[in-house]
Amino acid sequence: MPESIVTADHLVKRYGELAAVDGVSFSIAEGQIFGFLGPNGAGKTTTISILSTYLEPTSGEAAIDGISVIREPARVRGIIGLVPQEIALYPTLSALQNLKFYGRMYGLSGERLERRCRDVLELVELWERRDDRVERFSGGMKRRINLGAGLLHHPRFLLLDEPTVGVDPQSREHIFDTIFKIRDAGTTILYTSHYMEEVELLCDRIAIMDRGRVIADGTLKELLKMLGEGGVIELEVSPPGCPAHLEDELARQEAVTSVRHEGNRLFISSADSARSLAPVMQKLAGAGCQVASLELYSPTLEKLFIHLTGKELRE
Ligand SMILES: Nc1ncnc2c1ncn2[C@@H]1O[C@H](COP(=O)(O)OP(=O)(O)OP(=O)(O)O)[C@@H](O)[C@H]1O
Ligand SMILES: [Mg+2]
Repeated sequence: MPESIVTADHLVKRYGELAAVDGVSFSIAEGQIFGFLGPNGAGKTTTISILSTYLEPTSGEAAIDGISVIREPARVRGIIGLVPQEIALYPTLSALQNLKFYGRMYGLSGERLERRCRDVLELVELWERRDDRVERFSGGMKRRINLGAGLLHHPRFLLLDEPTVGVDPQSREHIFDTIFKIRDAGTTILYTSHYMEEVELLCDRIAIMDRGRVIADGTLKELLKMLGEGGVIELEVSPPGCPAHLEDELARQEAVTSVRHEGNRLFISSADSARSLAPVMQKLAGAGCQVASLELYSPTLEKLFIHLTGKELRE
């Protein structure tokens, strides 16, 4: 396991009564793409703002490459790149002028600035369009310039806050390709999204966030295992109260690994749901429970999110 380059330790950010970030801890190994997956308002951007030194936490600590984001923000800013959720480009300036502006902000000048602007525009495949005003670009192209702006100074750690919102599928592919290239060149990446397909595809590790907390954290495989390796049997049963007293007995059936109920819904995780199905149905029938609906599915992050929170990821 490579060493951690990013550590967050019990981060809290309060706005009055609301804990936007409520005790978040995680670490990111050097060279990995780490995903933050969570619905609107989960606290993803707030956590990113703390890591990138733009927001002081109410309590807790975070460090990038051993440098505290609270005590030495200027040093941290020198080694990170931030691609914000809101596109921050000057519409009336050209692509190249925008990048030069950001490059100077990161302390680049002269030949080095010219070269990095060219490298980055080539990387996001917009060098040909360098002299066009950004206001004439499509949403996806603006996103690609926005991404490029965070890369000019070769950051060791890149924070991407929903970099694919509002882009067409082709630009999305482009952005993914670019992200893999950046990772392969050695940059560690934090990738924020509320699209589970994106984090499944891109991320080496994933933290699922909800209401300011990390509610699960691991590789995709580890996370999906929480639902049962073989799959899930989800049933709606009646009369009311039926599921609760059957949980223990159902948990003893063939291949079943865990049983949980919520209202009149039963969630049965199994190492082999096809094998578990018959004995489960038999037990239910024997106890006088009626099955109103039945669903068998393989574990996905979307299902795991519902399992952990009782709500859909996209609302
Ligand atoms: N400056 C602020 N003042 C008060 N509340 C805030 C402030 N910034 C964020 N919040 C609240 O903190 C919570 C977390 O917001 P945050 O922007 O971190 O969520 P997010 O996970 O990035 O959501 P999204 O997917 O919509 O971008 C929300 O309830 C939000 O309303
Ligand atoms: Mg956000």
